[in-house]
Amino acid sequence: MLYLDAAATAPLRDEARQAMLAVLDGGPANASSVHTPGKTAKATLQQSREALARAFGATPGEVVFTAGGTEANNLALKGIALATPRGKHIVTTAIEHSSIRKSCEFLARIAGFEITEIGVDAHGRVDEEAVVAAIRSDTTLVSLGLANGEVGTVQSVERIAAAARAVGAVMHTDAVQAAASLPVSFAAGGWPGDAVDAMSIASHKFGGPQGAGALLIRQGIDFEPLLHGGGQESGHRAGTENLAAIAGFSAAVSAVMGQAGSRAQAMAAQRDAFVATVLEHVAGAQLTGHPTERVPNHASFVIAGFSGESLVVDLDIAGIAASSGSACSAGKKEPSGILLAMGYDPDVAVTALRFTFPDPLDEASYDRLVQTALNVLAQHTSVAR
Ligand SMILES: Cc1ncc(COP(=O)(O)O)c(C=O)c1O
Repeated sequence: MLYLDAAATAPLRDEARQAMLAVLDGGPANASSVHTPGKTAKATLQQSREALARAFGATPGEVVFTAGGTEANNLALKGIALATPRGKHIVTTAIEHSSIRKSCEFLARIAGFEITEIGVDAHGRVDEEAVVAAIRSDTTLVSLGLANGEVGTVQSVERIAAAARAVGAVMHTDAVQAAASLPVSFAAGGWPGDAVDAMSIASHKFGGPQGAGALLIRQGIDFEPLLHGGGQESGHRAGTENLAAIAGFSAAVSAVMGQAGSRAQAMAAQRDAFVATVLEHVAGAQLTGHPTERVPNHASFVIAGFSGESLVVDLDIAGIAASSGSACSAGKKEPSGILLAMGYDPDVAVTALRFTFPDPLDEASYDRLVQTALNVLAQHTSVAR
């Protein structure tokens, strides 16, 4: 099976597997225990935190481990909003992941926050002017995803972040998709760098285990914990740490970020060639998302007259794992809300097809991808027309 659904979850990296096995086979160990196995666990936790922080140009004290990207986003939105006495206003966009949008809905319903949701253009780029205009003196928080999982479009954050800073609002970015394929950094001079105050990441998009993630958050930004109990994660996230998952997460991130630039270039070259081939050979195929400002491993299309779901099934039978949108919305048989926000008609939005490369493919695998994808798409063309 050729796996081209890294935006849903990436294959487990060997570095992550080894790091997890070392923890799992190392005997019982709670990082809060005072005995020798506990100290060993604590050291593993500390090393994992340091390595992950280093990979993103953060300090270890800026890392809060969570159970994934969804929890990191919930912690950022609810944690910061509820801890910030000034204002009750959040600015976000119409194409955020459901963990952002539903956290906003929760804050509106439970705590009376006003949410301003800004739209996007046909390429999925956020209207920067509108975001800046929406930021007010009582805005608490601005949350903007760095890259969209369904269409791959990357946003530019600097101007929006500066406008947020100017009124004292906290700037959060959901970097779950962007960080997995681009050299993302929390350090000054990097991208998005010190423009943001808080950034969410998720282990399984890097080839680490599922169910681990982190919120990187600058010291001095107040936030309420979502989980109350023990004092783990410096009191920011109670509960015995999932040490094996954290160790695997950190190992995967270190492996990916060490070669992030060259990996991004290699994937972009392959992705560009693949997009060009599909657009040339498949009648009615249209690239979705921005043609250039997009994550390098992401090829997404709408294909007039096709059903995205049935294409995914036929590709699967032919040995290719692709998707018709995000894994969270797949199977719902509703048009993608992201594509609707970008202005696509509902009957076009249901034709979405997405291929996301976990790593650059070797030549034989790439050739197989092209041959198989074109064969499957050609069969549908003859059926559909
Ligand atoms: C942009 C974005 N944010 C957050 C998430 C949620 O992350 P997790 O699956 O680790 O909960 C995803 C998952 O696909 C995502 O694409």
